[in-house]
Amino acid sequence: MTPLSPTTGSTRTADDYLAFCDGLFKLCAIDLAQYKRGQMERRIRSFARRKGSDDLVDYLGVLKVNNDELEDFLDRMTINVSQLWRNPEQWTVIGGKILPELAEGNRAVSAWSAGCSYGAEAYTLAAMCKEHIPGSRATIKGTDIDKRMIERGRRGHFSADDARSAPQALLKKYFDTVDDGIQAKRELVSMCSFEVGDLLRMRVPAGRLDLVLCRNTVIYFTDDVRNALHTRLAEALRPGGYLVIGSTERVQDPREMGLTPTQPFVYRKS
Ligand SMILES: C[S@@+](CC[C@H](N)C(=O)[O-])C[C@H]1O[C@@H](n2cnc3c(N)ncnc32)[C@H](O)[C@@H]1O
Repeated sequence: MTPLSPTTGSTRTADDYLAFCDGLFKLCAIDLAQYKRGQMERRIRSFARRKGSDDLVDYLGVLKVNNDELEDFLDRMTINVSQLWRNPEQWTVIGGKILPELAEGNRAVSAWSAGCSYGAEAYTLAAMCKEHIPGSRATIKGTDIDKRMIERGRRGHFSADDARSAPQALLKKYFDTVDDGIQAKRELVSMCSFEVGDLLRMRVPAGRLDLVLCRNTVIYFTDDVRNALHTRLAEALRPGGYLVIGSTERVQDPREMGLTPTQPFVYRKS
């Protein structure tokens, strides 16, 4: 990380953001230096201001002593927006083409939802596996930096709003309607596992995975960090495996990573 100036006097106002990043890293091991400064700083400053702090070092002091405030802040910062069958056009490709190819000959399919938030992506993939490759064993690991999201993911419970883009027939087949929303059926829950992990630091076994979904997660990273992460995700794939990214994202230099684009948001490992 960038060396930081002491957090007192004029230096403090000169770059209280850097001092805040350093303090937050010590407090909860989240390294904001890896994220694009512009939008992250704007988001943090407006959040701190709404909480009554114009100075980020003062706000850091609040986070250090008030756990509820820290939770609130992390909620805001990590932006956990997700939904079932998010970007339906991607799921059409995943279900119609990618999964059948990966499972040819009843091969087991091992997938990773990297930056899974509260699990909507992982359970959507589980339902698509049941629907499109019913004869194959499929396992899906979801990881996220936010432990509260991982706890939610393990429950497999979603709001009605989470299902707004979901195909009704599949929703009915693989989820139960419960009083306060919808619940993934046991057969999906048993396919999914969830773990807290920082994508920028976690160890990733090379050459083993069939499918990696990393959608709507790298948009906050600096370009260098994003490229390094895409390289590691590509390394995690077996030859013939697929990387799926968000609809508005791109892999900067796919061939360098041994990836061939097959759709604007899909890359196949050579
Ligand atoms: C917008 S959500 C995307 C969820 C899902 N992939 C989707 O497309 O619906 C982004 C997620 O990335 C997670 N995230 C951000 N930085 C991360 C990091 N360094 N390591 C792991 N997860 C991270 C956030 O906590 C958040 O849950």
